[in-house]
Amino acid sequence: MAGQKDAEVSVADLSREAAADDLARLAAAVAAANLAYHGLDTPEISDADYDALKRRLLAIEARFPDLALAESPTRVVGAAPAEGFAKVTHAQPMLSLENAFSDEEVVDFLARIRKFLGLEAGAPLWLTAEPKIDGLSLSLRYEGGRLRQAATRGDGAVGENVTENVAQIADIPQQLRGAPDLMEVRGEVYMSHADFAALNARQALVGEKTFANPRNAAAGSLRQLDARITAARPLRFFAYAWGAHSASLGATQTEAIARLKALGFPTNPRTTRCDGPEALLAAYRALEAERATLGYDIDGVVYKVDDLALQRRLGFRSTTPRWAIAHKFPAELAWTRLERIEIQVGRTGALSPVARLAPVTVGGVVVSNATLHNEDYIAGRDAKGSPIRGGRDIREGDWVQVYRAGDVIPKIADVDVSRRNGDSQPYVFPTICPECGSQAIREPGDAVRRCSGGLACPAQAVEKLRHFVSRAAFDIEGLGARQIEAFFREGWLREPADIFTLREKHGAELAKREGWGEKSTANLFAAIEARRRIALARLIFALGIRHVGEAAAGLLASHYLSWQNFAAAMRGAEIGVGSEWADLLAIDGVGETLASSVITAFHNPGEIAAIAALIGELNKSGGVQDAERPATESAISGKTIVFTGTLERMTRAEAKARAEALGAKVAGSVSARTDILVAGPGAGSKAKKAEEFGVEVIDEAAWLALAGQA
Ligand code: IVH
Repeated sequence: MAGQKDAEVSVADLSREAAADDLARLAAAVAAANLAYHGLDTPEISDADYDALKRRLLAIEARFPDLALAESPTRVVGAAPAEGFAKVTHAQPMLSLENAFSDEEVVDFLARIRKFLGLEAGAPLWLTAEPKIDGLSLSLRYEGGRLRQAATRGDGAVGENVTENVAQIADIPQQLRGAPDLMEVRGEVYMSHADFAALNARQALVGEKTFANPRNAAAGSLRQLDARITAARPLRFFAYAWGAHSASLGATQTEAIARLKALGFPTNPRTTRCDGPEALLAAYRALEAERATLGYDIDGVVYKVDDLALQRRLGFRSTTPRWAIAHKFPAELAWTRLERIEIQVGRTGALSPVARLAPVTVGGVVVSNATLHNEDYIAGRDAKGSPIRGGRDIREGDWVQVYRAGDVIPKIADVDVSRRNGDSQPYVFPTICPECGSQAIREPGDAVRRCSGGLACPAQAVEKLRHFVSRAAFDIEGLGARQIEAFFREGWLREPADIFTLREKHGAELAKREGWGEKSTANLFAAIEARRRIALARLIFALGIRHVGEAAAGLLASHYLSWQNFAAAMRGAEIGVGSEWADLLAIDGVGETLASSVITAFHNPGEIAAIAALIGELNKSGGVQDAERPATESAISGKTIVFTGTLERMTRAEAKARAEALGAKVAGSVSARTDILVAGPGAGSKAKKAEEFGVEVIDEAAWLALAGQA
């Protein structure tokens, strides 16, 4: 067989000539095998032989990269990586979009932009309106015009390398002519309605799993470890954005998209340019009317400021651009019976009511659970006690209307009291935790009732531990939700620090357990040991403090830089007063709720003990890794700036956002801690104060030079 013969001369010993010959022969053999496999569905060689051919081809290409054929099948079809996908760090993060659900929110969005930019009434502001494709986003990196890497969005910062699979998508060019040397093209992979129906029919015929909707089918087809499966699935692509690029693509969104189209990317033909709210909303209505006949799923309309210079001025919040918004279509609805209400206890002790429903299809997906939010929602009132749904409460046995918007957890919109059973009773929300029997307390002003059991409540303890080992937190290989639950049941784990004493206390026992053995326990303990060194942001996120998600943990880490700083500041801080409180709130993206929550955690004796035990364990080797200053090193990073007087070339909001993007802090008043005062015409007392403190005072022109916008 070809594969065996090829192995005879080791690749390392091949001459250049022999390599070139071998390459041509191997490439033809692999291409023929590919065609037989997924073109004709009749494989002619075994998988093992195919892999051997492919490996040798790759090895020769690696040794003589300049000999690699442009159309080499290694660029077209790949072997499955052994486990999972390789990770790719995006050169520029892949962001998401703010959502608008009503016309008013769109009008507000425009007003905010105009205010931020300081546009005068009547000054034109053009935006594009384009369909929001319901698929999954993809980033394509081209170097020297050649597709080098394709990555999924992942968590926005790190995605999965799907280059080999993307080579199977006919819509995506492998080679570009006349493109900038470096260019990242971004867009959406999706599946058309017709292709989706045909795929599901084929899957059903051969007894394979069918997909709930075209988006799941697209995601399932792209995220295949075997690129040959991707090849057999009809995926499509629309380009709508870009990441890093070495040369400008145009002056406007419209021009840049036209450029992508000229380079060979499919772009959405239903994109229009609009000059204000009426035009945007008209575009929205037109797309909504066309939605059913487009032939692919869209879930809204995306509006983007057209002028790229304005986009740059508007910049980004932590996860979304200020210059774009997604105007979503109304959610899909269906009626079904609410069979029971169950209470789940979360990591922060919140008692969350969940509706168990008679299964019903909502927008193509079968739904059997929905959130009921909290006890007020069930009782038919809002947090202030005013009636919602006309005051109608929700009871077990009721007919309820379920809705689903995008990918979020389904919700209950309404209840049909005319179909209510005569003997039904209002739902009584428990005041005792169903998991541990502790009092469940509702603080004044809080919508949620919480179990007071803390880590003594098994549900909370397990949820906290599960969160602790989750992917964005400690991410310990071999210690997933299942193991956490099992170890918890054994009584081996109660709090995070216990993970690090597991080997010492229960290692020998574990190695004797079914399914564990010596090798897997050794691997687990090695993975745990490796995590004694942990990045500050991960640690902060892992603590599971209410309101502190991944983004907030990142903000806190890059502000305080070290665990010592952070912990000391939180221990010393008081809610609502003092310099630590002000310092915390000065972080762009940190509000009072988040700040109060962190401070509360650092003043709770149970939490303090658990954190101290954990830090003690981490410090036995490795310890907490300091965060780095935000990547934007600039002349003003780390400095505290105050603006006063009138700025003529940018609004206050813009100046603040710009300074923060460059790593500076913006304060409202001058103090000894101020580094720079930017004083426009009309500056008064602040300029005087700056003089007293010996603070550097600069004018707007100098500020623009510092901000790189002169
Ligand atoms: S622009 C920085 N345009 O929607 C802005 N996104 O909800 C980048 N999406 O993650 C996104 N159609 O996957 C943009 N025409 C469109 C889109 C679109 C679909 C997706 C994209 C994004 C998500 C945010």
